[in-house]
Amino acid sequence: MRRGSIVALLGLALIAGGVATAVALVPTWLPEDASQEAGRIAFTFWFVIAICIFIFAIVAAVMVYAVLRFRVQEDDFEDGPPIHGHTGLEITWTIIPFILVTSIAIVSAIVLSRNDAQAKDTLRVDVTAQQFTFTFSYPDAGNVTSPVLMLPKGRSVELYMRSLDVIHSVFVPQFSQKEDVVPGLVTQLHITPTRLGTFPLECTELCGLGHSLMRSQAVVMEPAAFDSWLKKQGKTAAPPSSTTTSTTSTTTPSAAGLSVFNANGCSSCHTLSAANATGKVGPDLDNLVAYAKKANQPLESFVHDSIVDPNAYIQPGYPKNVMPGTFGQSLTKSQLDAVVSFLVQSAQKSGNK
Ligand code: CUA
Repeated sequence: MRRGSIVALLGLALIAGGVATAVALVPTWLPEDASQEAGRIAFTFWFVIAICIFIFAIVAAVMVYAVLRFRVQEDDFEDGPPIHGHTGLEITWTIIPFILVTSIAIVSAIVLSRNDAQAKDTLRVDVTAQQFTFTFSYPDAGNVTSPVLMLPKGRSVELYMRSLDVIHSVFVPQFSQKEDVVPGLVTQLHITPTRLGTFPLECTELCGLGHSLMRSQAVVMEPAAFDSWLKKQGKTAAPPSSTTTSTTSTTTPSAAGLSVFNANGCSSCHTLSAANATGKVGPDLDNLVAYAKKANQPLESFVHDSIVDPNAYIQPGYPKNVMPGTFGQSLTKSQLDAVVSFLVQSAQKSGNK
């Protein structure tokens, strides 16, 4: 091989590699990391990208050089000389990819095992997904529940995820991980948040009519702020299922109903001005008085039955089989009563306007 050809090939490889590097680095392809796991995943991503740029530069240089240098003359119709393989080249182009692919596998295996490794004081969060909402509860803190995923910064957190109906998927782009929530299984996701802030938490599995509305947030707080949030929630939360007697004197019945409404994500699908809810999937709950009249039922039993057996009466204009019956099943009697009386009260208020 002549020295001129080597210099030309090297020059082309540098140009191709430079362009590919610019495409990789200049646009912001990934959101800024907000967890240790995301940092490791980003490392794997860039490790693979670097290998891709290296291979791309070699292939592009050889291709462009061959096109320019070995172009046929206009009146040349001859075939090229027959070639019967080149053992040296074949060994080279087998060994180099083998080393590269094996190194990607090793890096990925190390990252996966580190990302799954829980610390001793891992915080457990139970995630319940259902059409079309997520509920997060903290079993170590008296099952405090929240419609938003609250996390302490710097602490190892394990999500235990269940679905009450179809397959959903949890994704926070800044955490880089995505995990399906499958009926009948408990899937797990390990997160160690490293950055304070509020990040979008989305369902990324097409799960029905309200899929695009199935969004929540992950809020990363300082550990002290998180602890005081947990304590505060523990005090004001509706009493846990088994020990329910009546709502405590500090919470009014309508406040208890509102917290049930919010904790179950009713606002993802319904509009209700008393709860600042603007969902559009299901019937507008400000019109409950008119709906009950149309269904020819007393308001209170209409609201109750519509939660327990959503398909019993379908308001014209809205599809059947969208609201799951699981809400009615998962609520305790006092929670159900609270949310029914809250809805009846707010419906009467907005109906009288
Ligand atoms: Cu749940 Cu999409």
